[in-house]
Amino acid sequence: MSNNTKTRTLAPDEYGLRQAAALLSDGELVAFPTETVYGLGADARNDTSVAQIFHAKGRPHFNPLIIHVPDLDSAETFAVFHPDAQALAQAFWPGPLTLVLPQRANAGLSPLVTAGLDSVAIRVPEHPVAQGVLQSFGGPVAAPSANPSGRISPTRAQHVLDGLSGKIAAVVDGGACAVGVESTILGFDETGPVLLRPGGLPVEAIAACLGKPVAARAEGADISAPGQLTSHYAPRVGMRLNIAKPHHDALWLGFGPDCEGATLNLSLGGDLVEAAANLFHHLRALDAQARPDQVIEVAPVPEHGLGLAINDRLKRAAAPRD
Ligand code: TXA
Ligand code: MG
Repeated sequence: MSNNTKTRTLAPDEYGLRQAAALLSDGELVAFPTETVYGLGADARNDTSVAQIFHAKGRPHFNPLIIHVPDLDSAETFAVFHPDAQALAQAFWPGPLTLVLPQRANAGLSPLVTAGLDSVAIRVPEHPVAQGVLQSFGGPVAAPSANPSGRISPTRAQHVLDGLSGKIAAVVDGGACAVGVESTILGFDETGPVLLRPGGLPVEAIAACLGKPVAARAEGADISAPGQLTSHYAPRVGMRLNIAKPHHDALWLGFGPDCEGATLNLSLGGDLVEAAANLFHHLRALDAQARPDQVIEVAPVPEHGLGLAINDRLKRAAAPRD
């Protein structure tokens, strides 16, 4: 699709969902809300459509994408589920968990989706609009976050339009995303489950469900989430983390009740779930109001539960840019 087509905003009703599905069937790109962030969807079986995702996002490499399906039955037509994967799918789907599993032969997915790997990353989202789009479309939808590559992920339809208007056919406006950070990505090696990306499902919940620890991803391991570039989620201006006493000229992103005078607070009550839901929205708001020479300083966020995902995104947002 050309770069100057008008992007339509669709309502999250019957008609909007049918339009979204029809556009996907025509090979177009459609953004839609999931409970984590807005996804940029394309028919995962259509090479041209999947290639358009990389083009629209300006994604520099053909990193593999997550496919989205409406339920476990459908997921089983694309991936092989061993007992641990079955247990996790039953416990946490629909929800913010992506499983990396062996791909079925003849799954019919575009090789661009999996970047030629034998595995496939698969997820069943919970958001009613995502469910509606998937059921109406009736096929697997490849969907990375609906933002230009390297920038802050979108948790509102307007965020999607800010970054991709004119480059995609439509966005379904389903309001704000409840979780606010991307799904937790879990892979498996010979020894058991491996955390490939912390995200919206706390790793503690996964370990409790399986009754075994979840390994951290080893540097240089064969299974990895290759999309995990170091600099990512980057605002325009610089960032500094773990700042309990901000410099007087900085914009301060607080967490918890002790951050009096913060420009914005992720959660006044110190609630990590609320903080995750606010994270990308607050980063965008601070970035929009910052002068070019101003820095965003962020208060310490505890490293447990959803704090793992929040700190992961903050570290990438603050990392040196290429
Ligand atoms: O919450 C989410 O997961 C959102 C919503 C839209 O569902 N999607 C999302 O997709 O965050 P994306 O493309 O931004 O992140 C996909 C991640 C990348 O880091 C990629 O490298 C990894 O999944 N991935 C995909 N397929 C993989 C595979 N076969 N093996 C290992 N990692 C894989
Ligand atoms: Mg992303």
